[in-house]
Amino acid sequence: MSLQNFDVAGKRVFLRCDLNVPLKNGEITDDGRIRASLPTIKTLIANGASIVIAAHLGRPKGEAKPELSLAPVAKRLSELLGAPVQFAGAVTGSDVTSKAAALKAGEILLLENIRFSAAETSKDEAERQVLAKELAALADAYVGDGFGAVHRKHASVFDLPKLLPHVAGTLVAAEVEVLKKLTQNPERPYGVVLGGAKVSDKIGVISNLLGKVDVMAIGGGMVFTFLAAQGKEIGTSLVETDLIETVKGLIKQAADSGVKLVLPTDILVAPAFAFDAPATLVSADAIPADQMGLDIGPDSAAAFATAIRSCKTLFWNGPMGVFEFPAFASGTKVVAQALTEVSGISVVGGGDSAAAVRALGFADSAFGYISTGGGASLEYLEGKELPGLTALGL
Ligand code: 3PG
Repeated sequence: MSLQNFDVAGKRVFLRCDLNVPLKNGEITDDGRIRASLPTIKTLIANGASIVIAAHLGRPKGEAKPELSLAPVAKRLSELLGAPVQFAGAVTGSDVTSKAAALKAGEILLLENIRFSAAETSKDEAERQVLAKELAALADAYVGDGFGAVHRKHASVFDLPKLLPHVAGTLVAAEVEVLKKLTQNPERPYGVVLGGAKVSDKIGVISNLLGKVDVMAIGGGMVFTFLAAQGKEIGTSLVETDLIETVKGLIKQAADSGVKLVLPTDILVAPAFAFDAPATLVSADAIPADQMGLDIGPDSAAAFATAIRSCKTLFWNGPMGVFEFPAFASGTKVVAQALTEVSGISVVGGGDSAAAVRALGFADSAFGYISTGGGASLEYLEGKELPGLTALGL
């Protein structure tokens, strides 16, 4: 069943989106996830539905935090749709129920940040069920389109679809189709480039992907744990010392399985983590004790780019350096540019990576596909079962 064939005429549809956009001083700095949600919303409206939208913003941990309100998202969504979007101001309650009941065909109600309700993310199934039932009472059908959250066993993602007739939205369907191409018989060579701050977030995916890919390049903050595992001096760079032994195991796993592991050979360092910190280029073997690495150097970026261009299938998640600071953006830029030159399929995975390429001036169309889900796409590639997809029968 596809969204187009799902009968919604005259019905109220509960739509789970991922509208977790970056905000700075209350302003949305990248609206990619809102734009990515538009096709499903427009299809539902065209097919005669009214819509109750639920989404999360950040990790408020069950508390109503004003700075994580979805109010700015309601405004932006309304601008992009060119139609009013009513903001509920709460997740549940009698006011929300009456606002939902009053919706006419074509009208949209956006609930407040669903994670303001502690039950949304609760590990206790019974607690999640209570919220799921309240949400189910707001609508006649469910559409799951929050791809970025499908790896979460949350009430609005996993429990709720079981209570209503359901279908995947066009974004979730498109994301799954692309990720299938990466997991089912990918054209080789198949490479992944991983960056971002923490190796602890990516141990599982690295270990799993080492059994599947031909090339793996690692940059970003997490690379210093790799350099430390190779016995290198890393100065004051970010490091997860408790993972050095694990990372030694990953380096060995790469060697044993014949995967080409590409690590940086030069690093841009600075005395502090600051926007205007002076950058110095050093060898990855000679990071001064009082300096921290904030980007991969030009030789490394060139080697990463060569490795990327040699691949027919490429997945990239996580910036190579602190791209928000202009002096430390070039590694990420060179990698992004190389991705646009991959002759086969290139996928940028994740809200942060997507925001990075847009902030660096690349057009979405320059890449094969820009996924809206970071953790979700990594877990899919890892071969894990994703609760939000299982619940939709995918
Ligand atoms: C994301 O930003 O990757 C998604 O919106 C999921 O957010 P989460 O990691 O807080 O569950």
